[in-house]
Amino acid sequence: MLVAGATGVLGGELARALAGAGARVALTGRDDGRLRAVAEELGGAPALAADAVDVEAVRTAVDAAAEALGGLDAVVVAWGVVAFGPAADADDAVTEELFAVNTLAPMSLVRAALPHLSDGGAVALLSAVVADAPTLGMAEYSASKAALSAWASVLRRELRRRRITVLDVRPPHVDTGLVDRALAGSPPRLPEGHDRAEVVAAVLDGLREGAREVVLDPAQQRLVRR
Ligand SMILES: NC(=O)c1ccc[n+]([C@@H]2O[C@H](COP(=O)([O-])OP(=O)(O)OC[C@H]3O[C@@H](n4cnc5c(N)ncnc54)[C@H](OP(=O)(O)O)[C@@H]3O)[C@@H](O)[C@H]2O)c1
Repeated sequence: MLVAGATGVLGGELARALAGAGARVALTGRDDGRLRAVAEELGGAPALAADAVDVEAVRTAVDAAAEALGGLDAVVVAWGVVAFGPAADADDAVTEELFAVNTLAPMSLVRAALPHLSDGGAVALLSAVVADAPTLGMAEYSASKAALSAWASVLRRELRRRRITVLDVRPPHVDTGLVDRALAGSPPRLPEGHDRAEVVAAVLDGLREGAREVVLDPAQQRLVRR
């Protein structure tokens, strides 16, 4: 199993939870020091540093992960960046990076992983609630996540013959510090952060069950899988 974005808060927790559940995990992330720390914590898991926007580096990392693990049974993509501000004022370079990291890089990684992925395997993509509910001051982030979700819905149908689960995870705001690391702008008033452990558990359950998506049930304010 390969976890991309294992240096991040959700990616790191997903990697720990998956390893704790018995999966053999390989990791990729951008920050080499933090990547090594997570890998050590997981007993020397294969760790392959790569910038998500470097398509060749990502392909090399995927191939190396597959070689180290003897193939892949799942890929979890938790890369992500955010930016804030009115759509009319968005900086082109920032918008490009948002789409490069949130949309194009997960597509490239999955494409690179598919030849290594076993039939009956799984892909989990961290999109966000804003894919369903585009949010003021977050037009480009919302659009980048909606595009990823649209892509995932087609990929799922195209991979049906191989029985590969494509899990589209669209959590609400979670306190991970992501908004403080924004590429631009300051966050609008955000709701209280959703329970992080619930997000991680929902991804693991979704992978186990072969679910299509993890979304917030607004009435219950709980994550549901379907
Ligand atoms: N937190 C929330 O409220 C929330 C809500 C819904 C969805 N999500 C989604 O959940 C995912 C994880 O977010 P998080 O909250 O855990 O944030 P996080 O802790 O900031 O993690 C983001 C991850 O993305 C990686 N990353 C960013 N740019 C990269 C690049 N150019 N190349 C390689 N890696 C790059 C970071 O790597 P380095 O640290 O190594 O640079 C880090 O591993 C994201 O897709 C996010 O959009 C988050």
